[in-house]
Amino acid sequence: MNKIFLPDIEATQQLGITLGETLNAGSVILLEGDLGAGKTTLVQGIGKGLGIIDSIVSPTFTLINEYPEGRIPLYHLDLYRLEPQEVTGLNLESYWEGIEVTPGIVAIEWAERMPYLPDSYLKVCLKYGENGDRQAEIMVCGN
Ligand SMILES: Nc1ncnc2c1ncn2[C@@H]1O[C@H](COP(=O)(O)OP(=O)(O)OP(=O)(O)O)[C@@H](O)[C@H]1O
Ligand SMILES: [Mg+2]
Repeated sequence: MNKIFLPDIEATQQLGITLGETLNAGSVILLEGDLGAGKTTLVQGIGKGLGIIDSIVSPTFTLINEYPEGRIPLYHLDLYRLEPQEVTGLNLESYWEGIEVTPGIVAIEWAERMPYLPDSYLKVCLKYGENGDRQAEIMVCGN
């Protein structure tokens, strides 16, 4: 596990930019952390790193926002409003298998709500620090 100190919003964005610049199509990033921990901010950085000009907005109500115009597509999901059995009906695997969708980066907020997981993924847990800062824990999971 990797722990990264994120003193301010720019640091959270920069971590996202690095991920957006380096991750391959088919990568899944599962984002965990309390309300306001910085999940959307990190995905905004990923969009920047991919060269996406569109502004990345929280998909809390739309569930899925798709941004096709960067280096590879970005699929941004937010499961906050769903129960695990509702998540099952979304066929999330079509995003990471890239069968009916062009393979890209799949970033999922509130991944705690997922009833099943991809074979391999990055897990990013965002935590509040004592002084309004944040800390990210990054784990490479699966094969
Ligand atoms: N490293 C940081 N230090 C301080 N503030 C930060 C940091 N990263 C992000 N923030 C701020 O935290 C606030 C909430 O961020 P964000 O919307 O990304 O959280 P979230 O985890 O997506 O929330 P939600 O659970 O509602 O989806 C924003 O105002 C953002 O600027
Ligand atoms: Mg969010």
